[in-house]
Order: sequence, then C-alpha cells, then structure tokens
Amino acid sequence: MISALTLHSMTAVATSAVRLPTVRHYLMCPPRYFAVDYAINPWMDPSRPVDRDRAMAQWAELRDTYRRFGHTVDEIEPQPDLPDMVFAANSGTVVDGRVLGARFRAPQRAAEAEHFRRWFVEHGYRDVTMPTMVNEAEGDFAWTGRLLLAGTGFRTDPAAHAEAQEVLGVPVVSLQLTDPRYYHLDTALFVLAEETESAAAQVAYYPDAFSPGSRRVLRRLFPDAVLGDAADAECLGLNGVSDGRNVVLPKEATGLAERLADRGFEPVLVDVSELRKAGGGPKCCTMELRK
Ligand code: ARG
Repeated sequence: MISALTLHSMTAVATSAVRLPTVRHYLMCPPRYFAVDYAINPWMDPSRPVDRDRAMAQWAELRDTYRRFGHTVDEIEPQPDLPDMVFAANSGTVVDGRVLGARFRAPQRAAEAEHFRRWFVEHGYRDVTMPTMVNEAEGDFAWTGRLLLAGTGFRTDPAAHAEAQEVLGVPVVSLQLTDPRYYHLDTALFVLAEETESAAAQVAYYPDAFSPGSRRVLRRLFPDAVLGDAADAECLGLNGVSDGRNVVLPKEATGLAERLADRGFEPVLVDVSELRKAGGGPKCCTMELRK
C-alpha cells in the first residue's frame, strides 16, 4: 500500500528537477560578544535576556552544517563592544572576487565595517571598495547569478544601489521594503539557485514585505518563485541559505520547508532562537565569498 506521505514524495520527485548543489565559501563571525543592548530593529528588546552560550552553540551548529555539506567557512575574529558582528552578511557584498564593503546606518554597528575591510585586505582581496552611501551589504543585496537584487526602505540608501552597480559592474534591481519587521532584503527574500546557462534563477520571498510595484517586479522576474507566508516570515524563514540543493532554514519554518521539498530542494532545519532575538537568522550570519 502506498501511504499519503509516500505518494506526496513520489509526486515531488516526479514534478521537480534534480537539484545540484555547488560548493560555497562563507565568512562567519562567532557570537562571542553577542548581546541585545540596544534596539535598532523591532525584534530587539534589551530587557529580554539572551543566552550567549546558547547563541554560540547555535552558531557553531550552523557553521558545522555548512562544513558537513562540503562548504568552506572562514571565521573573522569577533570584537568586544560589537554585539551584532555575528551578522557577517551585513559587512560585504562579494561578486567575482570584487568586494563592496559596508557603511552601517546605526552608529552602534559602524565600526564593524572596518574590521571586515581589514579582513578582506589581509586575505588577498585586491579589489576592495568602501561605500560612500549607507550600505548594509548582503543584508540588502542578493545575487541571482546575473542580477543583484537590492533592498531599501529601512537601512541601505537607494543611492547605494547605483553605487553597487558601478563598483561591482553588475545590473542592480531596486526593491522597496515596507514592513519594519522585514527591515533588510534578506529577511524577506533569498536565492535558492543561481541562474545558469540552462536554468533561470530560483528565489523564495514574502510578497507582503514589498511595495506593490516591487511585488510586480518580482513576479515578472521570478514567475515561479516559492512564496513565503506570514508564518514563514515571522520566524525569519525567508532568511535562508541555499547551495542550490540544501536549504538551511530556521527550524520553525516548516511550511516553507515543505514547499521547498515539493520543488526538489532539501530543507535543513537549524535552531537560531537566540540569534533571532537580535533580528537575525541563518543568512544574516553568513557572508558569501564569490570568486
Ligand atoms: N541586530 C542587527 C541589525 O539590526 C541584525 C542584523 C541581521 N542581519 C541581516 N542580514 N538581516 O542590524
């Protein structure tokens, strides 16, 4: 007898392509000095205690998950007094080995940018440019393999989009964020698979986080995107990290995980509950170093 579950997974296999992962290189920062002492997004409540050891354990599990899939993870030294430095994605956008650094909106995070700039220079990156406009890097920039999707509304200045296009030499598509809980593009959208010669890019996003015009742009660019709902967004489920096959998500994002599995992806659920108290999930902790 075929159970409903077997039937479900048979359909999934029948309707979706084989998803091949590609090897990735990430930069992460251990949350050794993690804290929520200030509030610069609606997730942060300094009166609510955070468990730093637990944050460290969750972060290590995320790093080890990437390594288990064969990805390389470099680590940058965390700094006391920079409790949000664990969110490495905010400190650089790297495409084709070219680096566009960060300029933070909040003064509390400003010093992070220089630590990362130094890391790039010390690790052989020759082409490192620091932005003149507020630019929170991969927090607001997502590379599809052809286009750089760029968020604005809360953090990254819209003029930083033009600056990114000029510095990185890639076409930039601006998207307007409208919900303060989804203050960075990477809280509302992520790339599941980059565009290749034979296949279009695949993305997942939460439409309600975007302005009506930006929703239309997304529909036009990605007619078969995986759409997240409110429950997916509220656990930062759209802050996923995909290698083209394995998709790392917060463990509460079960609805999204199921929809991804239906498309042939392998959801991998991790616990990021402590890091989420600062408004971050798996992607926020993960900067991608693209050769
Ligand atoms: N507390 C940090 C901030 O508000 C969280 C950043 C999360 N990072 C991200 N890529 N969304 O800036």
